Amino acid sequence: MGWKHPNRKFHSRPTLFFLRSSTILAAFVFLASLVYIFEPVTRDFAKTWTREVHFRGDLREAKFPWNKLCFGQATEKLKLAVFSKTWPIGAAPGGMERHASTLYTALAAKGHEIHVFTAPSDRRAHEDIHEHNLHVYFVSNDHGMVNCSLAFDIFNRENNISKFDYVHTESVSLPYWRARLVPKVAVTWHGVWYEIMHSKLFQELLSNPKGQLPRPMTELQEAIPMLIDEIRFFSNYKEHICISDSAGEVLVNIYQLPQRNVHVILNGVDETKFTRNPMAGAEFRKRYGVPSNVSLVLGVAGRLVKDKGHPLLCEAFGKITKRNPGVFLLVAGSGPWGKRYAELGLNVKVLGALEPSELSRFYNAIDMFVNPTLRPQGLDLTLIEAMHCGKPVLTPNFPSITRTVVLNQEYGYTFSPNVESLVEALEVVINDGPRVMQRKGMLCQRYAVSMFTATKMASSYERFFLCMKDDRYCQYPLANDC
Ligand SMILES: *[C@@H]1O[C@H](CO)[C@@H](O)[C@H](O)[C@H]1NC(C)=O
Ligand SMILES: *[C@@H]1O[C@H](CO)[C@@H](O)[C@H](O)[C@H]1NC(C)=O
Ligand SMILES: *[C@@H]1O[C@H](CO)[C@@H](O)[C@H](O)[C@H]1NC(C)=O
Repeated sequence: MGWKHPNRKFHSRPTLFFLRSSTILAAFVFLASLVYIFEPVTRDFAKTWTREVHFRGDLREAKFPWNKLCFGQATEKLKLAVFSKTWPIGAAPGGMERHASTLYTALAAKGHEIHVFTAPSDRRAHEDIHEHNLHVYFVSNDHGMVNCSLAFDIFNRENNISKFDYVHTESVSLPYWRARLVPKVAVTWHGVWYEIMHSKLFQELLSNPKGQLPRPMTELQEAIPMLIDEIRFFSNYKEHICISDSAGEVLVNIYQLPQRNVHVILNGVDETKFTRNPMAGAEFRKRYGVPSNVSLVLGVAGRLVKDKGHPLLCEAFGKITKRNPGVFLLVAGSGPWGKRYAELGLNVKVLGALEPSELSRFYNAIDMFVNPTLRPQGLDLTLIEAMHCGKPVLTPNFPSITRTVVLNQEYGYTFSPNVESLVEALEVVINDGPRVMQRKGMLCQRYAVSMFTATKMASSYERFFLCMKDDRYCQYPLANDC
């Protein structure tokens, strides 16, 4: 993800040729992605669930998230090296650095020796961190990126004292030409270019629906060479971990990586911070002046920018409130679209950015969480946080979401990323009303607690690294597995 190609050869080609070949490619890849979009998702969840929890055998053959299993306490301690683009300093870090810090703080607490090579998220100078068995080395270069030579100086020194059991990189933090030289390496992909291309496609269709504006589709076209580049270099990494079922399938079917080297471990959030609390929700509504006679409260959170789908929700909400004056929208976050939401009138309240501690109360105050994002990369943590608080979700029908989060209508609602489809979905939500939202929300909470917790994520990664170190741990269940 975020991979910058050093020499963009395609710029030197004649433009017409490039346009043609990339259009054909885009069409091909689009058709291929349709297979994913239209794949039936309404499978019998109860059945698959029981089949998977009764899984026996080699974990490397598991074609479902490891989070579904229950691993016992590990008896062996590991020494792990981790490469992460950044390490969060202070509040509000992004998804990838939160993943690294949540995961490695938890693994260190379980007694494993962790050495992280990274750069501070605020790009300032910081002392290295040494807290018990968690060691964080800030090895940034002048651009605030990880300096690999510097990192390997320390890596080699540590490896000489006692050998690392395994190396983990968050995305391309450890670049592929280096990874090639590290035989025991696993990479976690937080979003791949196949998914990015997919989202660029939707953005293009949405911003120019009838193709009336003659203009180059630069972003979409640039995604194709990036995708091809990625397919070529991914095999330099030995083991691959994906954060959604659909990304795992893409790595096997499109990137052609061996199934045995592709594993799915879902992200988790701190389950103690996001919990169901109706009292806190009611208090939040009162404090922010949500009228007591509204019939349904929807909520949206995050940066209020275009590619998070806010133009879509703004327009759709404007349409439905004309017919349904009792529907209310709470907007948590800041950004250019805050003003547009405020202009929608009395049915909308823009709260600005909320403190992390307030966020749980916000989720509790709403009847349903809307995530209109146009970026089908990875797994959106806000969806998972809302579910932990017992709220159903309304999201676009991206495969990463329908295969892993909103498994069927019992967990919420999905729509195609266009205004008509969103309006239609909102009408169904309004028709169902708060009672049905509550029922679906309870199921969401049960599911989130069973799959998307920091504890589950940490124990899955722990077992993964144990299995990489010693085949015996790849068997499931072991005597002490629950
Ligand atoms: C990276 O670190 C090495 C020292 O190990 C140093 O010589 C080199 O200049 C650094 N590179 C950058 C780009 O900061
Ligand atoms: C590691 O140890 C070996 C011999 O014990 C030594 O030759 C080598 O230079 C050491 N490497 C580092 C990076 O310290
Ligand atoms: C709620 O009450 C206010 C003031 O009492 C009124 O103006 C508004 O129309 C009511 N809204 C609904 C949806 O009934």
